Amino acid sequence: MDLVIFLLLISVAQVSSLGACPKCGSMEVPYPLSTDDSCGDPRYKVYCKNGGLEFLSAEGIYYEVLSIDPSAAKLVISPPMIQNNTCNSSDLSVGGLSLDENLPFNISTHNTVILLNCSSTILLSPLNCSSNSFCRVYEDNVVEARECRNTLCCHYLKDSAMTSHRIRIRAGGCTAYTSVVNIKPGDPVSSWNYGIELQWVRPS
Ligand SMILES: *[C@@H]1O[C@H](CO)[C@@H](O)[C@H](O)[C@H]1NC(C)=O
Ligand SMILES: *[C@@H]1O[C@H](CO)[C@@H](O)[C@H](O)[C@H]1NC(C)=O
Ligand SMILES: *[C@@H]1O[C@H](CO)[C@@H](O)[C@H](O)[C@H]1NC(C)=O
Ligand SMILES: *[C@@H]1O[C@H](CO)[C@@H](O)[C@H](O)[C@H]1NC(C)=O
Ligand SMILES: *[C@@H]1O[C@H](CO)[C@@H](O)[C@H](O)[C@H]1NC(C)=O
Repeated sequence: MDLVIFLLLISVAQVSSLGACPKCGSMEVPYPLSTDDSCGDPRYKVYCKNGGLEFLSAEGIYYEVLSIDPSAAKLVISPPMIQNNTCNSSDLSVGGLSLDENLPFNISTHNTVILLNCSSTILLSPLNCSSNSFCRVYEDNVVEARECRNTLCCHYLKDSAMTSHRIRIRAGGCTAYTSVVNIKPGDPVSSWNYGIELQWVRPS
């Protein structure tokens, strides 16, 4: 075969392979998300593990993907578990969630982050640590958070005033967190949509 035609066929094959990836378990994997180099856009890497879709943090922790909205270029990942009988998030040892700033994802401004077991030294605006803060409601209603009771807790709306690539926890700061997407004052806890909403830069 002529070399030029051969190379042309290869490049056609590569372009046509850049479709959406196959489903992961029951979840669609819309473009540009990519579970494999042969589909999607490899810069938008997600992982299909044991039939579940997962997002990998810069610290090497996997977070379950709960939902994806390709038209809005957004996905929601699961906040980490709070370890039993402690008020520690499972990602405490790596300092919480951090996204690789070289990748096209960031944390959206629709997340209300609830910080648990905080020390008073971190009490800086825009943290809301009042007794009617969302975190008190959370502690009073969610069994996993019972060890967090009687500790200082706060919430804040994730916005551009704070880094869009990190939710930071640490011993001596706050040791656990969760996040609720699009929470409104007065929403009953049973209707809260737990998750961390990420958005991606659309491929050019
Ligand atoms: C934590 O507690 C839940 C429910 O109480 C239980 O299902 C789970 O196995 C426990 N996890 C660990 C690591 O002990
Ligand atoms: C803190 O949040 C609660 C619940 O949304 C709100 O009622 C209260 O006004 C807030 N307090 C401050 C100081 O922002
Ligand atoms: C929870 O965090 C505290 C402070 O870092 C640590 O002393 C403790 O060992 C942790 N507990 C678990 C079960 O990881
Ligand atoms: C709260 O955090 C401190 C460290 O900042 C830790 O020693 C303590 O065990 C934590 N409390 C609970 C209930 O996990
Ligand atoms: C996060 O990414 C979105 C989509 O590219 C962008 O519009 C937004 O400005 C970014 N936010 C920050 C704080 O960088």
